[in-house]
Amino acid sequence: MATVSGISENQSFPTPLPLQAAIKAKGESIFALMENEGKSIFNKDWWYGRIMEGSMKNDRFKTQMFRFVDVLPYLNSGAEVARHLKEYFAEGGGDLPPIFNLGVGLGSLAPGLMAGAIRKQVTGMAKMFITGETPQDALAALKKARKNKICFTVDLLGEACLSEAEARDYQTRYLDLISWLSKDASGWEPSPLIDRDDRGPIPRVNVSVKLSALSSMIDVKAWDASKNACKDRLRPIFRLGMERGAAVTVDMESYDLKDLTLAVFRELLLEPEFKDYPHFGCVLQAYLRDSLVDLQAMVDFSQSRGAALSIRLVKGAYWDYETVQAQQSGWPVPVFTNKKESDARFEECALLLLRNVRSVRPAFASHNVRSIAHALVNAERLGVDPRAFEVQMLYGMADPIKAALVKSGIRVREYAPVGLLIPGMAYLVRRLLENTSNESFLRSKFADGQSSETLLADPRDGLRPTAASPLLPAGRFVNEPLIDFGLAANRTAFTQALAEAQADGLGRDHALTIGGKDVVTGLWMESHNPARPRQVLGRVAIAGRPEADRAMAAAKSASLAWRAVPVERRAGLLEALAGVFVRDRLKIMALQVLEAGKQWEEADGDVAEAIDFCRYYALEMRRLAVPLRVGSALGEVSLYQYRPRGVSVVIAPWNFPLAILTGMVAGSVVTGNTCVMKPAEQTCLIGAYLMRAITEAGFPPGVVNLLNGAGEELGPHLVAHPDAAQICFTGSKAVGLAIIAGAARLVPGQACVKRVICEMGGKNAIIIDSDADLDEAIVGTLHSAFGYQGQKCSAASRVIAVDDIYDRFVQRLIEAAGSLPVRAPESPDSVIGPVIDQEA
Ligand code: FAD
Ligand code: 2OP
Repeated sequence: MATVSGISENQSFPTPLPLQAAIKAKGESIFALMENEGKSIFNKDWWYGRIMEGSMKNDRFKTQMFRFVDVLPYLNSGAEVARHLKEYFAEGGGDLPPIFNLGVGLGSLAPGLMAGAIRKQVTGMAKMFITGETPQDALAALKKARKNKICFTVDLLGEACLSEAEARDYQTRYLDLISWLSKDASGWEPSPLIDRDDRGPIPRVNVSVKLSALSSMIDVKAWDASKNACKDRLRPIFRLGMERGAAVTVDMESYDLKDLTLAVFRELLLEPEFKDYPHFGCVLQAYLRDSLVDLQAMVDFSQSRGAALSIRLVKGAYWDYETVQAQQSGWPVPVFTNKKESDARFEECALLLLRNVRSVRPAFASHNVRSIAHALVNAERLGVDPRAFEVQMLYGMADPIKAALVKSGIRVREYAPVGLLIPGMAYLVRRLLENTSNESFLRSKFADGQSSETLLADPRDGLRPTAASPLLPAGRFVNEPLIDFGLAANRTAFTQALAEAQADGLGRDHALTIGGKDVVTGLWMESHNPARPRQVLGRVAIAGRPEADRAMAAAKSASLAWRAVPVERRAGLLEALAGVFVRDRLKIMALQVLEAGKQWEEADGDVAEAIDFCRYYALEMRRLAVPLRVGSALGEVSLYQYRPRGVSVVIAPWNFPLAILTGMVAGSVVTGNTCVMKPAEQTCLIGAYLMRAITEAGFPPGVVNLLNGAGEELGPHLVAHPDAAQICFTGSKAVGLAIIAGAARLVPGQACVKRVICEMGGKNAIIIDSDADLDEAIVGTLHSAFGYQGQKCSAASRVIAVDDIYDRFVQRLIEAAGSLPVRAPESPDSVIGPVIDQEA
């Protein structure tokens, strides 16, 4: 039968079975071929099999076991291993689970022996999924696979690098791998099933790369810079791959990197030097709700480019991460949450690939016999040459299925990871999670022994589609989600907001607000852009003592009516204020970038926190407003309830220019107090914005009054004022202590003892224990120490690293810190921007 580019032109079929029956028959035939094909990974003769069994039966054991596996490579001594085992598995001094009964117990005089035995088992477990520590070690496994007519793609373990030195090292290792393997491969025996497809010879050397390991500069909001950095690192690998006739596939990682990965891949493939090479590949994940759209776009791209590209269709390896991450961020969950949806989408995508085999080389990467059988049957029905596609599986998984497919003449490729245990840990844990998941096909088949009827059922049977956004609980506080700058629309909108703020939001004058009226004094204070200190962003009127006294009087007089306003109304006004912030969100963020020198996500965090304060305090006030019945003396009713105290003086810092100011004002007014607020001089325009928003939200005149001016002058005067019932301050220790002392001094006319709510700076330490995962510890330390230039009250200002890991930690921290880009904060790739002013 003649085939043209994979699809036969005039194939005639015998009367076909209905599709689902044919898929079941194909599945059954694969199951039959699997008989006597070696042990499955769940076999309980192995320690790994017993670990899997324990994990599938008991969730707590599973969590502790995977945590233990994750930490084990970092433990340096037998005593440390014993201590961790005790902490993880023998809480309350009980015995370890029998699975650890490896001849030497916890109480053993030689913890080293016990640790050695456990380490050996865990290393053995890792070796089931990792072919070797070096490519040279892995060669035996690759050659053995070829002997069994299975080809490979090599993956160098490593992801999420922290510095450019680490990224360059990863790139070099790939270049060495391609050179070395290509040289070795030239001497390999030919194997037609795996060395050719329907178009002719295909590369024997095939590698898979992860973008996140190739650059420490990836930051999706800095889209162009990240894309260019990734392209620059990937280009030499593509070039060498092409020179040596190797295939290079770019793996797909977490959802936040998906669009970037696809863009990098497409753009590189269009570069003149690469545009004709047909052995580049990418991966699409069927568990993503976007998958079909992305796949269609990739197929169209391949068609328009001309040279076929490989598309590996997978379900996806980051399901647990994606669901937790999205829920934590309050973002729509990008993956399906019903396993059958992923299976059904995989089949839809497989069909799309098969219908386009003229322009793509499909690789169906799955260990699920139903998913594979669906692809095989549809390939037959579409008349696709069986050499035009391949099935891929992971090293160490589903070996009986691989063998069965090889027997059926299908090209099978193994994904073969190479590397040390520490960089391999994330990969290993993904495999453990995947294999113990309730939803896993391999578990259902090999551990739970489900019937083939169930295993081969159509995933559409009884399928109930799920929604991307879970319903939020009503009446409970939920944090305002941060903006996802991974989405192009959000990046574009904020870039525009920044441009608008620069173009027409600047240069205005802002009055004081006293008793609902604008007040100017003839004296003005300029606000400057810390990134361009000569740029004046606007001016605010300066208050002297007379204006301070007028503001205190206005607040006092408003207080009588305000305290009588029902709680529901006060809370509603705070919620209205949150609504104004939500509407103005990008505008306020842009102002913060300019006036406070905040990076995009720092500005976003501040505005989101201001929204949270309003909503949370509104909810809390409703709760606190219900009088509490206390005591039970006969004939007596005792109620405990909160009452407003009078006027609050709010003195706020510049480092959270909207959130802290809003929080202290919102807390004051929702409880029925009125307030005089004094924003920090450095961020007085954000203070002026807040005053306008409060007025717009509908707060009556005088409930909130705005003063601007030098803190050293206004502050002590307000604190000493007889009508100040409380002072809310956030700022330095020196000023805070002076306020506490000042508020304690009685002044004539004072009606109550002043209260002070004072939040002052601290020296925050991070402690890095010897078993810490340094990838996480370094990212956390950099974020805490240098986020917003280290100007947050919670910033880490010292690190205490335990001796065992001190040198390694310090060396990597310095390298990573040295890679942080220093840029003006409006630039999306800014990590380090300006400090607030000359004094700072
Ligand atoms: P099945 O048991 O049929 O499916 C399990 C999968 O279903 C899970 O992995 C998950 O994707 C999905 N799932 C589980 N629970 C649910 C749920 N409640 N709702 C919806 N969906 C659910 N993945 C990547 O992300 N990037 C890659 O680059 C990549 N490369 C791979 C290369 C190869 C050769 C192979 C075989 C797989 C690759 N994978 C990749 C996929 C991944 O590693 C898993 O092996 C694969 O998802 C398991 O699917 P399955 O069809 O074998 O098994
Ligand atoms: C992973 O690294 C196989 O790419 C997939 O989990």
